[in-house]
Amino acid sequence: MTPQERIAQLRDEINFHLYRYHVLDSPVVSDAEYDLLYNELLALEQENPELVTPDSPTQRAGAEPLSAFTKVVHPAPILSLANAFNAEDLFAWRQRIGRYLPDPDMALDYVAEPKLDGLTVVLTYENGRFTQGATRGNGEVGEDITQNLRTITAVPQRIPVDPQSELPVPPYLVVRGEVFFPLDKFEQFNERQRQEEKQVYMNPRNAASGSLRQLDPKITAGRPLTLYCYDLVAWDGVDVPAKQWERLDYLRQLGFPVSSDSQYCDNIEAVASAYEQWKEKRNQINYEVDGVVVKINDRPLADSLGFVGKDPRGAVAMKFPAQEKTTKLLDVAVNVGRTGILAPAAVLEPVEIGGVVVRNATLHNYDEIARKDIRIGDTVIVKRAGDVIPYIVGPVADLRDGSERVVEPPTHCPVCGEPALRVPGEVAIYCDNPSCPEQLVRRVEYFVSRGAMDIDGFGTKTGVLLAEVGMVKDLADIYYLNRDDLLALEGFKDKKVDNLLNGLEASKNQSPVRFLTALGIRFVGSVVAGLLIDAFGSIDELAAADQERLEQIEGIGPGTAVSVTSWFADERHRALLEKFRAAGLKFAADKPEPAEAGSQSLAGLTFVITGTLPSLSRDDAKALIEANGGKVTGSVSKNTDYLLAGEKAGSKLSKAESLGVTVIDEAHLKGMIA
Ligand code: IVH
Repeated sequence: MTPQERIAQLRDEINFHLYRYHVLDSPVVSDAEYDLLYNELLALEQENPELVTPDSPTQRAGAEPLSAFTKVVHPAPILSLANAFNAEDLFAWRQRIGRYLPDPDMALDYVAEPKLDGLTVVLTYENGRFTQGATRGNGEVGEDITQNLRTITAVPQRIPVDPQSELPVPPYLVVRGEVFFPLDKFEQFNERQRQEEKQVYMNPRNAASGSLRQLDPKITAGRPLTLYCYDLVAWDGVDVPAKQWERLDYLRQLGFPVSSDSQYCDNIEAVASAYEQWKEKRNQINYEVDGVVVKINDRPLADSLGFVGKDPRGAVAMKFPAQEKTTKLLDVAVNVGRTGILAPAAVLEPVEIGGVVVRNATLHNYDEIARKDIRIGDTVIVKRAGDVIPYIVGPVADLRDGSERVVEPPTHCPVCGEPALRVPGEVAIYCDNPSCPEQLVRRVEYFVSRGAMDIDGFGTKTGVLLAEVGMVKDLADIYYLNRDDLLALEGFKDKKVDNLLNGLEASKNQSPVRFLTALGIRFVGSVVAGLLIDAFGSIDELAAADQERLEQIEGIGPGTAVSVTSWFADERHRALLEKFRAAGLKFAADKPEPAEAGSQSLAGLTFVITGTLPSLSRDDAKALIEANGGKVTGSVSKNTDYLLAGEKAGSKLSKAESLGVTVIDEAHLKGMIA
């Protein structure tokens, strides 16, 4: 085989595996097998640079930066949609279009699709190759973002993606879809941006649009963007199905990612009930949806109805009730956090948003208040989406009457009165007094919380009280509480004290990952703590590491490295750790039980690992499974036998549950081996 032939073969195979992984969520090779193919291709291309083409999977890492985007004229207008807000509006739409139908009362069927809140993209394929990708722009002319779209693994580089497919290669096909940020990835991504002191995005939509409109494709390549396609804009030389429902399937068969949440509806009442169901489930899915798009299934008929302005008559967007409302910003309170950050918090005139009364909202930091020019007394737009804390989108400056006041950053800690400090290059303002009583209360609250040491019987109120009466002066003091002293407190009867002391005793066995998380070191949440304990095995080894060593760990940025080393360098913290050690807390991770040589108790079983396990790191768990004959893959599919889940399991858990995959914990796994 010539290098050229092998390269072509590798590209097909790699594209197919990317598709299995990103689109079908059902990989057929392990990550290691995939890497082998990819590395072989990379090596061949390095030896034969003249054979590198822009659609090679190796180019997903991002080409050279552009100086500006060029304009692209769309082959057909990229239309928008008229809105409906309830069933009544929907029925009115059906009534209205009756006038343009051959028979106003004719039976129609529909497709109800999730209205994805992302960024519209227009993808052009010539002879099966992805040749151009553009933004919507004004609907007539968009911007050429081909280079950026190539970095998104869900965007097929060639169609049909499956080399074995019997579908003919379309000579010309233009597809419309929506690029978006999955919600779980968005939170992780923002957390990392925050840690690395880079731009934090307001919502997944802004993150998607900010990531796509980068002149440097390498930046886009680093973002976990994905895509769903839902329409054909133009085609030539192929027959495409006339029904929308079948068009979705056609797109799917070509290898485009298509939402599996779309529904076929036999009549308009079925559409109304699909909408009601969607309102319920919109907060349970891993992408942001702001409504349901209703399309007449018969596309030629729908298209024959024409437009009103830029809105086709043959489809309508049923929007969900607003998750945004306006209200008055009454005040900006200052909260003291456990790291001493003085955080602004909006005090709002209570407003009902999506069935919940909102009184407070986050304002992130003072720079953001200044940037958005939010003033006390302003009418502000408040957004509440899913389970995230409500936040202020911005002020409605037009409604000002001149009585509004500019928000001044605090000069002193509102609790202890010490001067506030601003670290150069950081947005946060701190109370730098380590014995600030409010900081201690917040640290205790965090230490005992579910995401950290998870101490039964130790609630926020107890923490606040113990700090206030002086029984807890530092974090480790909670392990030195005395039964009689506790009984002397108001409301502390035998049973309550027993529960508290038992909870504390049991928590001494918590994993070092939880312990490290609970210490509340800046930038060290449970994910980073997991990475650090994975790398060092114990808190003592971590304490001995220098900045350079920390930065070598994947996922640890310089900000985190500095924060960790300076925390451990502080003598007060060293003393605190010794106090914890003396109390009997666990500083080192358990080593996985060495598997019996040749044990095949997991032979033929496929596992996926997610979340933070109580004692095993993910690598250890993987090694343990493999040593016993099992297989570990990266994503949950119908072929997964078990999902091994720990704390903070995210989308993989919901995926497993929806597919009926058995979910087990670490103890269960160990039981299967024993
Ligand atoms: S169809 C004629 N389907 O919503 C076709 N649009 O308000 C018109 N959108 O700009 C679009 N999901 O960006 C369609 N399943 C879906 C959609 C969808 C999201 C967006 C699209 C459009 C906006 C319309």
